[in-house]
Amino acid sequence: MTPLRRVNPRTVAVALAAAAVVIQFVPVGRSNPAVRHDVGASPAVAALLRGACYDCHSYETAWPWYSRVAPVSWFVADHVKEGRRKINFSDWPVTDLEAQDGLLREVAKEVGEGGMPLPGYGWAHPAARLSPQQRAQIVAWAGGPGAGQEDSD
Ligand code: HEC
Repeated sequence: MTPLRRVNPRTVAVALAAAAVVIQFVPVGRSNPAVRHDVGASPAVAALLRGACYDCHSYETAWPWYSRVAPVSWFVADHVKEGRRKINFSDWPVTDLEAQDGLLREVAKEVGEGGMPLPGYGWAHPAARLSPQQRAQIVAWAGGPGAGQEDSD
């Protein structure tokens, strides 16, 4: 039996380093389009939303330094893209009350249940570590106590 050929660790290190450089050239969308219609809320609630949600759910994303370093940048950009697609506080459907109602219900549900902001986000974003009182404040704004509870799904 022929012994397996050992791969030189130095070759592996060089290949990994080269790959780390090459992936930096994969284009990543990090745009902040112009705000169309801000959702509008009382100053207190607006501050909470800005601190805890706007990075992923608005056109006013503060792109951190690590959003410029692949592969982390891919996850950050994907969260923002998906987040904006679901609910965008910078493109609020001001003329569509039904759409607003649906979005607000989801906000009340997610924030009330602790599903949003995304777990782990608060690690680098202290303003997003919402206290129970702050969560209650957002839920009350989005539809009052029990909002979203009558959803049958
Ligand atoms: C780090 C990024 C990030 C932050 C911060 C964040 N979200 Fe999200 N949010 C997402 C992503 C990604 C999705 C879509 C995937 C999902 O539903 O998990 C989403 C989905 C949602 C949805 C739709 C849920 C559904 O099932 O359709 C609501 C409502 C929502 N977020 C509200 C909020 C609110 C309110 C805040 C602030 C308190 C917030 N999010 C903070 C990334 C984020």
